[in-house]
Amino acid sequence: MTAAAPLAATPVTEPGRRAFVLAIAAQKGGVGKTTTSVSLASAWARFHGLRVLLVDLDPQGHVDLAVRQQITEPGGALSSVLADRGATPIGEIAASTTVENLWVTRADAGLLTIEERLAGRIGRETVLRRAMERSREHFDVIVLDCPPNLGLLTINALVAADRVLVPAEPSPLGLAGVHGLFDAVNDVRDQLNDQIEVLGVVLTRMDGRNTRTNGAVLESVQRTMGDMLLPVHVHVDAALAQAQLAGEDVFAHRPTSRAAEQYQELAEIILSRR
Ligand SMILES: Nc1ncnc2c1ncn2[C@@H]1O[C@H](COP(=O)(O)OP(=O)(O)OP(=O)(O)O)[C@@H](O)[C@H]1O
Ligand SMILES: [Mg+2]
Repeated sequence: MTAAAPLAATPVTEPGRRAFVLAIAAQKGGVGKTTTSVSLASAWARFHGLRVLLVDLDPQGHVDLAVRQQITEPGGALSSVLADRGATPIGEIAASTTVENLWVTRADAGLLTIEERLAGRIGRETVLRRAMERSREHFDVIVLDCPPNLGLLTINALVAADRVLVPAEPSPLGLAGVHGLFDAVNDVRDQLNDQIEVLGVVLTRMDGRNTRTNGAVLESVQRTMGDMLLPVHVHVDAALAQAQLAGEDVFAHRPTSRAAEQYQELAEIILSRR
């Protein structure tokens, strides 16, 4: 995590676009939100030539850890942008990376207390949307990696996004939180962002060894989620943890791994559904 620094990035400008904004959110912790955010953002920049901004909205700063070897400048503090009522375009604090077309806004220490600082303010749910508005024309996709709760940062992401992708583990408990998120999306649609829709649920950490349990869980998920369940699942693959340890995305670290292949497929499916 970076210290709350003043703006220290080269502003990213290439007007004329209108970014598709995808929030990656789940109430539950450890279901693969960050891994999915980093892998999809990287896949779109690498294989589709899209200009991608990956925003770390989680005070844990895991995006930063996951791609720390690929970040080439410090960037600015997201918490300052949010505290400033979203007056600064978020693209102005983005850090460039060694991946062409991929920029990252990193979590900073100020994010830990930003929810408290915004709590009493009018417009607290819309600060991210305001900060993003002018930056949308400089990117093709903006990916928002959310913290594992339905607090103010996640609500800001749902207000700012066009679509939500929900990663879930293929277990009965893993799916328990999905409906809470769907309810939050419905509330946000009723009150703050009538565009927002769930793009789908992606099963992460499928365990290839436990085919019987997986089969039963998959059947039950298909029954309850229907079309919401995306047709690509991400299997357990040590390549993902190894890539995170190395501080780079899976396509840089283990390009021939199953996870790299599955995230590439997922990236294509999402583009076709957006
Ligand atoms: N398909 C997978 N195979 C193996 N390990 C995985 C897989 N997906 C994620 N992991 C590992 O699981 C851990 C949690 O993943 P990740 O950080 O992406 O989840 P998260 O939902 O963002 O967590 P948090 O709620 O804390 O933000 C990480 O150590 C990651 O390396
Ligand atoms: Mg995370």
